[in-house]
Amino acid sequence: MNTHTFLKSTFLLCLVGIFTACGGTQKQSSTDESDSLNTHIIPKEQWLDTDGNPINAHGGGLLYHEGTYYWYGEYKVGKTYLPEWATWECYRTDVTGVSCYSSTDLLNWKFEGVVLKAVPDDENHDLHPSKVLERPKVVYNAKTKKFVMWAHVESADYSKAAAGVAISDTPNGEFTYLGSFRPNETMSRDQTVFVDDDGKAYQFSSSEHNQTMHINELADDYLKPTGRYVRRFVDQAREAPAVFKKDGKYYMLSSGCTGWDPNRAELAVADSIMGEWTVLGDPCRGVDADKTFYGQSTFVQPIAGKENAYVAMFDMWKKTDLADSRYIWLPIVVQNDTLTIPYMEKWNIEEVFGK
Ligand code: DGJ
Repeated sequence: MNTHTFLKSTFLLCLVGIFTACGGTQKQSSTDESDSLNTHIIPKEQWLDTDGNPINAHGGGLLYHEGTYYWYGEYKVGKTYLPEWATWECYRTDVTGVSCYSSTDLLNWKFEGVVLKAVPDDENHDLHPSKVLERPKVVYNAKTKKFVMWAHVESADYSKAAAGVAISDTPNGEFTYLGSFRPNETMSRDQTVFVDDDGKAYQFSSSEHNQTMHINELADDYLKPTGRYVRRFVDQAREAPAVFKKDGKYYMLSSGCTGWDPNRAELAVADSIMGEWTVLGDPCRGVDADKTFYGQSTFVQPIAGKENAYVAMFDMWKKTDLADSRYIWLPIVVQNDTLTIPYMEKWNIEEVFGK
């Protein structure tokens, strides 16, 4: 390790200690100067958009496109209920669609609207309010110049286990729904889409009744699988996959499978995306790390223009009032090739990763 790297690592560790110890009580929506700009990420607080409304984008992911981050997520409105037939805690809100927010600093988010809307007048449609729409992720296809959204779609009785795909010419929509299918005729629930440096895309999905992760290679248009897929994390019941690449290696952050309740996170690594994956263990550090700080992974975003700088995004589900679920965003700290996610009560990118 050179002196620069050593000093940077030591600085980061000190910051972790300071932030973990101090804590913050401030809302993300206020600042020391009491102007209207957010200056820090404050996990678990209510986060407000630039109009002053709570940010409503759950189970989502980011897309960095031409200098702007777009945040897509489940737009959860109204009462949380349990269907009459429920024998398990399948709490839900009516499907209202997928929201989109934009930001250049990952702190101040402008509401761009509901970019994939529910379809209330057709009860057979995947996007009818009675169905389930979760974990939307959007990627950009440089060849077709289209923005492609993949999401988990369910029938009202939660037996469909399929992926829904939508497309748009612009990042802030509106997206046109193309339909749903089971990738490679296999079940697909919690899911994410990852685009590699060579432009190839892959869908990771909890399959086989959530017991085994499938990695489905996507066709060049990103709209369907090629037919090539692998089964990984066999019988390990991983959910909420979030995939990123660092120094040529692929990482998958995921949760266990306990409904809306928190459990222990896990990080795994692979040299090749469809190759063998090695489980590294729980990267979370600090109070309640064994329960992912009461969160569940949803996405990992590399910070544009910085090296070894990633934001890990988690949802803090409130299962009986899902619309009031909160967000936990934390830095991934890289030290001597070890990746950890320390809890910080209040932080920002410049403080942790430098200007
Ligand atoms: C865990 C999944 O990660 C969530 O997206 C949601 O489907 C809940 N299960 C439902 O219980």
